[in-house]
Amino acid sequence: MPLDLDCYYTPEPVARLVLERACLERVPEVCADSTCGSGRLLDAANEVFGHVQCMGIDRDRRAIAELRRRNPSWILAVGDLLNNRLRRTFASIMPENVDLLILNPPFSLGNKKFVEISYDGHQLTGSVAMAHLLRSFELFAPREGAIAIVPESLLYSETDATARDMLSARHSLQKIADLQNSTFRGARAHASAVQITPNRRQEGKTDDARGYGHVIRTRIVRGGLQVHTMKESRLGTPFIHSVDIRTLVEQQDVSSLRITSNSAKGRVDGWMVLVPRVGKPAKELIQAVDVTETVQLSDCVIALQCTNKATATRLASRIKESWEDFCGIFRGTGAQYVTLLRLKEWLASRSIIEFID
Ligand SMILES: C[S@@+](CC[C@H](N)C(=O)[O-])C[C@H]1O[C@@H](n2cnc3c(N)ncnc32)[C@H](O)[C@@H]1O
Repeated sequence: MPLDLDCYYTPEPVARLVLERACLERVPEVCADSTCGSGRLLDAANEVFGHVQCMGIDRDRRAIAELRRRNPSWILAVGDLLNNRLRRTFASIMPENVDLLILNPPFSLGNKKFVEISYDGHQLTGSVAMAHLLRSFELFAPREGAIAIVPESLLYSETDATARDMLSARHSLQKIADLQNSTFRGARAHASAVQITPNRRQEGKTDDARGYGHVIRTRIVRGGLQVHTMKESRLGTPFIHSVDIRTLVEQQDVSSLRITSNSAKGRVDGWMVLVPRVGKPAKELIQAVDVTETVQLSDCVIALQCTNKATATRLASRIKESWEDFCGIFRGTGAQYVTLLRLKEWLASRSIIEFID
């Protein structure tokens, strides 16, 4: 490959996960990826949204040739996104309307500190990822905005400050996931998945979407052991059902929990905040707890694991700051319960972002 094209493709599970997290008003029918490479984001769009019309551009001829072979119905083109004549070149094949832009643009600047960007009639500078993002917005004008995997720094760096302000004038930016620096094979980069939504969609909304202010990271673990199948025994793993959260919070100790010989999904340890999945949560029990040995969660308990005490404490406080609102996500005609999706969306609206391994 003559050029460094930054071909660090998005792993399939990550592609699916970030699209699943998107909070869209309607299901997109036409998706475009302006640096589509292997086409994994477009593949994921088909899985997550059902059949969508796909448009992909990439500078890498071989990648586009492979995609053409694999997906004859996709609209595909070889092109340099940063070339200003691109729109004219592709005028005849561009779909009339694109609903959602999805992209994981190149991150690396080589030995440069920034690149020149022309956007909305202005000349500015920014990172190479920002240049691709803004160019893609101009090219496709996506009606529902974009889901982009970008370097974490794009959200706060001085380099991208002007570009960010320009983008934010008409869009809201919401971080929807943190991606570990081991996510991309062969590259070590801290990345974030960001949803960029046209402002018209924010009308009438409350201040729920607070953007990406002071982010708290957590690993969200849903328990998997059904209470009626739980076998108590003398040896095994301490078991936490929703009624045990009080014991643990008040005693800060696992020794009085029941022991089970079962093993199921949802085994956790370390600092965490425990949330009942079923039943109304009690405000005084939303607290940081240090689970000193591995415990088995029942399917009625969700753990919000944190890397340390300070983070777990901040997380508990942030939930309690919006207590009424938090209780509102527990719904149901009989017993009230929260779904994992509702919980994740609510946490993300408070800048509590799920950490992806
Ligand atoms: C990080 S990869 C992402 C590929 C794909 N979207 C994914 O998520 O798997 C970046 C892609 O951008 C392409 N690329 C790099 N510079 C480009 C440019 N100026 N115009 C169009 N594509 C470009 C590369 O060939 C590569 O396929």
